[in-house]
Amino acid sequence: MELRDGTVRLIDQRRLPAAEVYLELKDYRQVALAIRDLAVRGAPVIGVTAACGLALEARRLAQEAPPPPPREALERLGLAAEELGATRPTAVNLFWAIDRVLEAARRAAAGAPRGLPPAENIARAVEEQALALAREDVDINRRLGRYGQELIRDGDGVLTHCNAGSLATVDYGTAVGVIRAAHEGGKRVHVYVDETRPVLQGARLTAWEMVKAGIPATLITDNMAASLMRRGLIQVVVVGADRVARNGDFANKIGTYGVAVLAREHGIPFYAAVPTPTIDLSLASGQDIPIEERDPSEVTHLAGVRIAPEGIEVANPAFDVTPHRYVTGIITEKGVVHPPFDATLLRLFEGGIPIAPELSPGHDHQGKE
Ligand code: MRU
Repeated sequence: MELRDGTVRLIDQRRLPAAEVYLELKDYRQVALAIRDLAVRGAPVIGVTAACGLALEARRLAQEAPPPPPREALERLGLAAEELGATRPTAVNLFWAIDRVLEAARRAAAGAPRGLPPAENIARAVEEQALALAREDVDINRRLGRYGQELIRDGDGVLTHCNAGSLATVDYGTAVGVIRAAHEGGKRVHVYVDETRPVLQGARLTAWEMVKAGIPATLITDNMAASLMRRGLIQVVVVGADRVARNGDFANKIGTYGVAVLAREHGIPFYAAVPTPTIDLSLASGQDIPIEERDPSEVTHLAGVRIAPEGIEVANPAFDVTPHRYVTGIITEKGVVHPPFDATLLRLFEGGIPIAPELSPGHDHQGKE
């Protein structure tokens, strides 16, 4: 996705893999709809997209005649931020990115240089912040990928769930970024892609990314993972996350929890690939993470065709929480952290000291004690 000339341009993920169609969004309301309706999805990219939506709004305010005074501009930007934040509740990246933009706007409102209308100054600051977040995301993913690929050995079968790839980020991906880095480094990896019902992010999006990148991959339905693990085809699991709590519990696409339990049963290391903006230290455990409930039609219909009878009750939580005890390690752009996560995650933020695999005592590259 990109922000250029007053337009947020992004690929419509709902149409993939059948069609590569780009949306050109002109105001923050269109951006909010695109996030809500999954035209753009994945924790990091919805944060950056919302930031770009705020940039559109700040620019529109600066072009009003006369432009609003700074306080009013901030208030109206705050209303747009509320609408954008109301689109999806689980991924903390959305709120993190919105906060970063509002903070930049407040700073700009307080210190407009002489001769520049305050609303113009705010618009410039918001645009700069949105673009900085986009650049930062790519940089984070590449660094995270470098750390994560250390955990993958030549010849490994790697299972991933949902799509934590370049589509879910500004570019490169988190879990897929780890796989990409291993592949680019010459390791022969074979990826097993969970189809990820109900919205099929694995079948539609991760499989598409694998084919495009030329990474050997096999698409499986969600109920095949156990059998493949038992047959020894999977040596490591790497998934993304939408929000990580202080104790290492984390929310990710529905079905992730089941994969984690299966991995434990089969003695397979299970990693979450997580940019630090996805870590929410304000939450003590995964119980506090809000889980989005989506429209029942995502379950009762497949590609627009009804597959369940009218009148049946439907559950459709978009995410589940994987308890930290199933997590071998959390791969971040600052290094890989291991249990006890309540201590190691704090260290990551406090010292900013990289906890690279080779520096993390008591663990080999597979994260086993
Ligand atoms: O509902 P979605 O498709 O937005 O859910 C996405 C996921 O669960 C991803 O695994 C997560 O956002 C990590 S993306 C780097």
